[in-house]
Amino acid sequence: MSTVLITGAARGLGLDFVKQYAAKGWKIHACARAPEALKQVKGDIHPHTLEVTDYAAVKALAGELKGEAIDVLICNAGISGKEATVLGAIDPVVWRETFEVNTLAPLMMAEAFADHVAASKDRKLVAISSRLGSITFANNGRYSYRASKAALNMEWKGLSVDLASRGLICVVLHPGWVQTDMGGATATLTIEQSVPAMVKVIDGLKPADNGRFLNYDGTELPW
Ligand SMILES: NC(=O)c1ccc[n+]([C@@H]2O[C@H](COP(=O)([O-])OP(=O)(O)OC[C@H]3O[C@@H](n4cnc5c(N)ncnc54)[C@H](OP(=O)(O)O)[C@@H]3O)[C@@H](O)[C@H]2O)c1
Repeated sequence: MSTVLITGAARGLGLDFVKQYAAKGWKIHACARAPEALKQVKGDIHPHTLEVTDYAAVKALAGELKGEAIDVLICNAGISGKEATVLGAIDPVVWRETFEVNTLAPLMMAEAFADHVAASKDRKLVAISSRLGSITFANNGRYSYRASKAALNMEWKGLSVDLASRGLICVVLHPGWVQTDMGGATATLTIEQSVPAMVKVIDGLKPADNGRFLNYDGTELPW
């Protein structure tokens, strides 16, 4: 049996990751601040209440699951940091919160669960990043969000080097622009077009993919 752990699992892309892995018969550790929505999904689902910036809770969960192999860890929880969007309206509080959730929390998850992933068959450490974090595609505005995802990308690149000797495959994925609360109704992709495609990409990851930045369809993105 294969096991996946997903953060931000109660809505948006996270909830569909839960549905996709449930349909594949995987055991799912579904982490969310309010896991009630997970009751609607049938499968081997283990809900955990988790605020990803509560690092004591992250450590406690890692301790609770000590000795359990986790094939795929998906750090999906994220925020848009919308208010810190243009020069003249930079709010340090929003900036710090965006970095806390999008950048520091995934690294703390990776640190807490690296042993669980290393003990598994698949050994995949995945972060849901964004094309907006690509410095090659840099554009105006969205300062905190872009920077938080660029920093996340750098972290995952570092993890890919640090953890290569333990056989981990560390990859950042861009889901596309998707119709979720964050992406909005005018986004170009539906959740059903994005998440199953990302699951297919994750399924196909090989050791040679360690340290890559991939689009939801598996094509390479420039850092
Ligand atoms: N949608 C897009 O177009 C798009 C594009 C590029 C990248 N992404 C990335 O994809 C990921 C998922 O986004 P989405 O579109 O599904 O957004 P969403 O619908 O807004 O969902 C965000 C998820 O993150 C969770 N979350 C936020 N802060 C959290 C915290 N402090 N602790 C625990 N969970 C927290 C939310 O949980 P609650 O329900 O408790 O708030 C929710 O489950 C994010 O990392 C986002 O940056 C999305």
